[in-house]
Formats: sequence, C-alpha cells, structure tokens
Amino acid sequence: MTSYKELGLVNTKKMFAKAVKGGYAIPAFNFNTMEQMQAIVQAAVETKSPVIMQVSKGARKYANPTILRYMAQGAVEYAKELGCKKPQIVLHLDHGDSFETCKSCIDSGFSSVMIDGSHLPFAENIKLTKKVVAYAHKHDVTVEAELGVLAGVEDEVSAAESHYTKPEEVIEFATKTGCDSLAISIGTSHGAYKFTREQCTVDKKTGKLVPPPLAFDILRAIEKKLPGFPIVLHGSSSVPQDEVDTINKFGGKLPDAVGIPEAQLRKAAKSAVCKINIDSDSRLAMTAAIRKQFAENPGHFDPRQYLTPARDNMKKMYVHKILKVLGSNDKL
Ligand code: G3H
Ligand code: 13P
Ligand code: ZN
Repeated sequence: MTSYKELGLVNTKKMFAKAVKGGYAIPAFNFNTMEQMQAIVQAAVETKSPVIMQVSKGARKYANPTILRYMAQGAVEYAKELGCKKPQIVLHLDHGDSFETCKSCIDSGFSSVMIDGSHLPFAENIKLTKKVVAYAHKHDVTVEAELGVLAGVEDEVSAAESHYTKPEEVIEFATKTGCDSLAISIGTSHGAYKFTREQCTVDKKTGKLVPPPLAFDILRAIEKKLPGFPIVLHGSSSVPQDEVDTINKFGGKLPDAVGIPEAQLRKAAKSAVCKINIDSDSRLAMTAAIRKQFAENPGHFDPRQYLTPARDNMKKMYVHKILKVLGSNDKL
C-alpha cells in the first residue's frame, strides 16, 4: 500500500471547495507519456495553477500502472525543481469501471478516483459508487461519480447517444453515495468529433461548423438542487481549428472535427463546474506539431527532434486553457 501523501500528491477536497467559491475550474489533463506530463507540469508551474493529472484505464495499460505512479511522483518533484514551493497536483483515475480498478489505484498512490457507473441503472450506480466511496474515504482519497451518459466512447464504457443528467436525481445520488464530485451530461462528449454536421450550423464567412450550445438550463437546475457541490465536465476539448488545419495540411485527415467553444467552457467554469476534462486537445496539439516537423524535416529521425516541438505545443495549449478558459491561474 502506497499512500498518495508519500508521493507529495493532494486530493481534490480543498481544491474544489476553493474553485467553486472562486468561480474557476481546475484543469484535468489526461496523460500517457512523459512529454505530456512535463508539459502539464511546466504549464501549471508557470501559471501558478493547481492541476489534476488523470489516467484512464487505457493509459494504465499503455504506460504501465507502476510507471505512471512514479511519473506522478516525478511530476511533484519536477514542479518543485521548476520553482513551485508547494505544488498542488492530484493523480486521478479517469473513468474507473469497477471497484477493483479503483481499489488498485487507491492502494498504489492515486489521490482521487472516478467510478463511472453512468451506464448502470440508477440504483446500481448508487450501490457501486457507495462501495468505492467507503473504501476511498478510509484512505482520504476523493471520489468522482457520474450521472447521465455522454455521447461517444467513454474509454471502455460506450454510449451511442447522450442522456442528459436528470436534475431531479442528483440530491438522492449525492446523498446516498457520499461522492465528492459529480460528472454530469449537458451536451459535451468525448473525442474530436463531438457533433455531427447535422447538429451544427455553418458559419457563412469561414465555412466552419458551429456547434449547438451546452444545456446550461440543466446545469443551473443541478446547481439549485446541490448548491456549492463540485460539478465536473467531461468531454471538454475545444478541438482548436488551427491544430486541425495543421494536421490536415501535413497529411492528416480529420474532416469536420469539432469541439466545445471555449466561451461556453469559460461560462461553465464560473459556475459550480470546478473540474474540466481535456484530453483530445492535447492529442491534437501533439499530432499537429509532429506532422509539421516531419513534413518540414524529412531527414529527422531522432525522437527529440519532433517530441520537443510537440511538448512545447502542448504546453502552450495547457497555458492557454488555464489563463483564458478555466481561470485557475494564481490559485496556489
Ligand atoms: O474519456 C476518455 C479519455 O479521453 C481517455 O481516453 O481511454 O483513449 O485513454 P483513452
Ligand atoms: P475530450 O475528449 O473532450 O478531451 O474529453 C476528455 C475527457 O473527458 C476525459 O475523461
Ligand atoms: Zn471523460
């Protein structure tokens, strides 16, 4: 058993309470590689922001759970080396699909876990979440749960269409489970194709797709039922069109990729939404930089030659999100 406290990590409790009060959101960036981890830490230190580094089940499989845990410990030490005296870094399991996965993460140094029972019937979601909360809280680990189903693929959990969270269910769910935060469905979805062409309107000037707005009425209704309770938004990448254009210009093929407009995320961050999940934007920033580097330098074959611009581009994106979208800068 390794406690996250030994690794210098923190849980989300105080961080979320402060964010809800302060009207900003904590960035939750997924990572699978050393370059993503370095870019996240550089951005968080530069902006003096708390940060959640999250790993999916797929990331654990890709990178190895032990390596990821030590990378999180390394992230804390790296942040100190970069000049941050007291980093606030959370290591969070994204979309945990069973009690066993959550327990294994808690036992190996995670400070926060998500149990995603959103695909289960209401009563079963409560039962599973409650079991995870009981174990997690014994170890001072915080738990994110989910009510409502996002469209798209949620790691191993898939849903063809989205079912918005029902505000009338949130009080019973939060009370019975004891979860520390709640992921809701209000129109976001995972990946780089969040809306079909048919769901969007087309901007007459640019020809670009304009997505439909998020269901802020549902968010407001949830906030009314659970005042001050930490709310989480998954699927919150904006799919920056300049990165998509770069990818397409240098041999990629991402037609009609579209995300959540940043203005909507900014609006959400000012409410009880205190954790915003971003993964796809990091993938796009990395891929765009690597494609450009390869196209312009066909002779390069040292990974450092293409991973350095990839890391720099991701860092730029993370800094932008923190400063211009989430507002978590200077909150350490
Ligand atoms: O919600 C899903 C995250 O973007 C993680 O994706 O399962 O491909 O690692 P992944
Ligand atoms: P995006 O695919 O929009 O980046 O969402 C990531 C996410 O929700 C991770 O849990
Ligand atoms: Zn997610």
